[in-house]
Amino acid sequence: MKIALIGYGKMGKTIEKMAIEQGHQVVLKFDVDNFDEFTVKTIKKADVAIEFTRPEGAAENIKKCIEAGVPVVCGTTGWLEKKAEVDALCEEKGSSFFYASNYSVGVNIFFALNKFLAKMMNEQPQYELETEEIHHTQKLDAPSGTSITLAEGIIENISDKKSWVNKASKAKGKVPIISKRIEKVPGTHTIKYQSVIDEIEIKHTAHSRAGFAGGAIQAAEWIIGKKGVFGMSDMLGF
Ligand SMILES: NC(=O)c1ccc[n+]([C@@H]2O[C@H](COP(=O)([O-])OP(=O)(O)OC[C@H]3O[C@@H](n4cnc5c(N)ncnc54)[C@H](O)[C@@H]3O)[C@@H](O)[C@H]2O)c1
Repeated sequence: MKIALIGYGKMGKTIEKMAIEQGHQVVLKFDVDNFDEFTVKTIKKADVAIEFTRPEGAAENIKKCIEAGVPVVCGTTGWLEKKAEVDALCEEKGSSFFYASNYSVGVNIFFALNKFLAKMMNEQPQYELETEEIHHTQKLDAPSGTSITLAEGIIENISDKKSWVNKASKAKGKVPIISKRIEKVPGTHTIKYQSVIDEIEIKHTAHSRAGFAGGAIQAAEWIIGKKGVFGMSDMLGF
């Protein structure tokens, strides 16, 4: 497939390397230095666009692809207040848009495991919940999109939990998300339930960006020819 990369930073470069190794072509690369070349007309040269930029530009970049009728796969986090508007535009234009806060297949298994565990812990109020995310120091948003998805999975399944908070908290009703920034960490997420007698912990540790890049390329292959708004559960079937 012919890929347009919107954003040529750490993720854009990792995706380019892996896509070429898999026999795909990267026909367009847009970043801040040539952003004026990214138009509804130019993007049509690609079969699919993959967007990994920054929270402030993501929605406009995706809308441009939707207007051009080019399927777009986005991994940028921290812009989701605009997602409903982008989804509506995609449906209206009959285009295709794929979003995941995390493209790693392992993390998506972890999302399912987190929901399963939360469902069981709904019956066990003696356990206190704590969640933690650790990322490299260049990450702009906190908490991570992945940790928000994990918190939402808990809120869906534990009836006492109503919202998340980005700090340590023992408040009933809150899912605490502790964010740490440590040099070179690609992404580590931990969910811990503690009681006076024991604790249960589940943890996902990414060893590199390869899992995110590989999942985004898989999503790009999968979305071509489909119409609508999709996510990892559509592609992976869970
Ligand atoms: N969904 C996932 O699986 C996943 C995995 C890793 C990172 N991320 C997210 O992806 C995003 C990018 O991560 P990264 O590590 O590549 O960051 P990065 O800072 O290395 O790269 C971002 C690039 O986008 C460029 N850019 C900024 N604004 C732009 C715009 N409006 N249009 C085009 N390019 C623009 C920057 O110049 C930079 O080169 C972040 O939001 C990060 O949280 C998501």
